[in-house]
Amino acid sequence: MDIEFVRSRFIKHFDGKTGSIYASPGRINLIGEHTDYNGGFVFPGAVDKGIMAEIRPNGTDTVMCYSIDLKDRVEFKVNDPKGPHTSWARYIYGIIQEMKQLGVDVKGFNTAFAGDVPLGAGMSSSAALESCFAFALNDLFGENKVSKWDMVLAGQATEHNYCGVKCGIMDQFASVFGQAGQLMRLDCRSREFEYFPFHPEGYKLVLLDSKVKHELASSAYNDRRKSCENVVAALQAKFADRKFETLRDADWADLEAVKADVSTEDYRRAHFVLGEKDRVLAVCDALTAGDYETVGQKMYETHEGLSKEYEVSCEELDYLNQLARENGVTGSRIMGGGFGGCTINLVKDKLYDRFVADAQEKYTAKYHRAPAVYDVVIGDGSRKIC
Ligand code: GLA
Repeated sequence: MDIEFVRSRFIKHFDGKTGSIYASPGRINLIGEHTDYNGGFVFPGAVDKGIMAEIRPNGTDTVMCYSIDLKDRVEFKVNDPKGPHTSWARYIYGIIQEMKQLGVDVKGFNTAFAGDVPLGAGMSSSAALESCFAFALNDLFGENKVSKWDMVLAGQATEHNYCGVKCGIMDQFASVFGQAGQLMRLDCRSREFEYFPFHPEGYKLVLLDSKVKHELASSAYNDRRKSCENVVAALQAKFADRKFETLRDADWADLEAVKADVSTEDYRRAHFVLGEKDRVLAVCDALTAGDYETVGQKMYETHEGLSKEYEVSCEELDYLNQLARENGVTGSRIMGGGFGGCTINLVKDKLYDRFVADAQEKYTAKYHRAPAVYDVVIGDGSRKIC
């Protein structure tokens, strides 16, 4: 992203003075979908695309925000009890409130920001925005005393409390903790994680964007989470002598034991989550052994599960997955929350050009719009640029 571009807009739309510039990335996830809020494992990495914001405290109690991409300006008071209606501004308002809860004495500021992480493509532009402002507010008003993990949780709380999405912690975690060239395996229950160098020789990771915009805020995501909670409640009722906090605490036999106590839909969804838990661990072993065929096979299995059991796919994503299979791509699946956005594809270098060209041609012929193609570059997490 271009620093001079953001700076020129900041100068133009405010009082001509410069401020500090911060950036935070979007993310990919190799495997481990809808496992974060179930206490499971995820395997994300930050990307080289994200949000960049210039910010300058203005000595008042008003926040003046300009979205460069949307050419939209919103103002609100730092202590306004309700906050703005405009959806993008609610992320900034929400993170301000959450950082204040953490003891950061946020005052008024001017900001202009832009992004090159595509909106609604399942790469977490919203987490990039939250993390960018969490990092900036901590630096400008909080003497950097808020820890990285608290910033992650502040971003997640922003989604829960101000934007209506009961998301897990994967996206904000990846945006804050990302490191160039490294994926991260995170245990969402213990919050322990390790960096995992990811340079598969002879393969590329490429995203194909269906251009179907997902609406995470639509109740579908929260519904999936509710299904998992229903099954956990049934397990707890059945096994009073054990403690079930999330589906992480259940094994296959437990799930079968409550099959008759839950709806078929909830059972099917929990079945996916247990399978996904196993797949992430299998992928970790396969990566350690350099066995990318198994990694790819697990990615296809995840796609099947997300499509048939968790029901977060759509016709366009299933078609992109089918095109990957037809082209001999090693692994392919929906990435992120689903309901639209991208597939992530692990493809051999020598098949890359043919696959991308074939997918573009056939997808465009069928849906009358070309899928966007993003080569994945694993980049750094939240940071101050200057
Ligand atoms: C969205 C959420 C994440 C996670 C994924 C699915 O990106 O924000 O917390 O649940 O969906 O894995």
